[in-house]
Amino acid sequence: MERTLIILKPDAVQRGLVGQIVSRFEQKGIQIAGAKFMKISQQTAETHYGPHKGKPFYEGLVKFMTSSPVLVLALEGKDVITISRNMMGATFGSKAAPGTIRGDFGVSNSFNLIHGSDSPEAAEKELKLFFKPDELLEWKPAVGVWVYDYAKGAPE
Ligand code: RTP
Ligand code: MG
Repeated sequence: MERTLIILKPDAVQRGLVGQIVSRFEQKGIQIAGAKFMKISQQTAETHYGPHKGKPFYEGLVKFMTSSPVLVLALEGKDVITISRNMMGATFGSKAAPGTIRGDFGVSNSFNLIHGSDSPEAAEKELKLFFKPDELLEWKPAVGVWVYDYAKGAPE
């Protein structure tokens, strides 16, 4: 099982889309390992989006991410990094395909509702930035045996 860091950005919270977006992950069979409703500090936003420092959208991005509360989630599942990136859709709301979160709920290129780690390395770093180890819970959902096929031992 893999974990990823998801942020429901200020526009998702302000527009009342948190429930619908979390539902999509729940319905897919993805498990919540941690959740935090918070206002991101300047320092944390700069660290989180550090790889984009110097790009034309960087300053605006940090301002946006610190402007209003967000819901930060640690999600868990097999291949959850790739699956959640696919569920999010392309970066720009104007380009994201219908059926994706960005494609269905937004049109803006910068207010694009959701962040998701883009690699295992990024996920590890980002999870550490937002969660203390004891804030990530190990638990077995009762329906887990119907979400994955465990006939061969490992989830399939
Ligand atoms: P994210 O990191 O938030 O999950 O988004 P992403 O991987 O799909 O896109 P990325 O290239 O990492 O860009 C990070 C965020 O910066 C904003 N952005 N605005 N106006 C622009 O040209 C522009 N380009 C990027 C978006 O909020 C994007 O999610
Ligand atoms: Mg990114």
